[in-house]
Amino acid sequence: MKKLEEYVRSIPDFPEPGIIFRDVTSILQDADGLQLAIDSIQEKIKDVDVDVIAGTESRGFIFGVPVAYNLHKPFVPIRKKGKLPCETISQDYDLEYGSATIEMHKDSIKPGQKVVLIDDLIATGGTIEAAAKMVERLGGEVVKIVFLMELAGLKGRERLKDYDVESVICYE
Ligand code: PRP
Ligand code: ADE
Repeated sequence: MKKLEEYVRSIPDFPEPGIIFRDVTSILQDADGLQLAIDSIQEKIKDVDVDVIAGTESRGFIFGVPVAYNLHKPFVPIRKKGKLPCETISQDYDLEYGSATIEMHKDSIKPGQKVVLIDDLIATGGTIEAAAKMVERLGGEVVKIVFLMELAGLKGRERLKDYDVESVICYE
């Protein structure tokens, strides 16, 4: 059986010179790769007491929703600015290439709920740090953060030192 790492396609200089882009489409387009990815993320939270799974647009949705479905938990989408129709809170953040704003519906997390954040990848950690801050502003508790891939060289984990963070694949 192939290891998950073997399903990841790495593209140099995308979307900018100097970036090695870790492509998840090559995992998703293989039935075994997709199953292995979801199972590997789920394994990381098997002993976690969780009320809500939340994921960031868009690749966090791909991996977060199947895990929420399997655990029979709700899924909260954390979206890019201007996409959510009801009352929102927002948070600005910096990316490996650029900056952005993400938003959540104000009623998506109830005070005291235990939240697991899921995303495909941590680079600088800016996206997930912003997501965690928003969950906390709504009164939620971030009990775990799980990534499929970690770009350890960018030291994103240092921004997340207050959280329980795990990744399935780590690139040095
Ligand atoms: C990517 C990735 C993570 C984030 C990681 O999403 O899916 O969410 O960047 O970078 P960071 O750790 O430096 O914040 P992107 O914003 O490119 O959006 P996409 O999922 O819609 O492609
Ligand atoms: N998001 C931020 N940096 C990335 C990278 N190097 N590969 C894939 N997605 C990313």
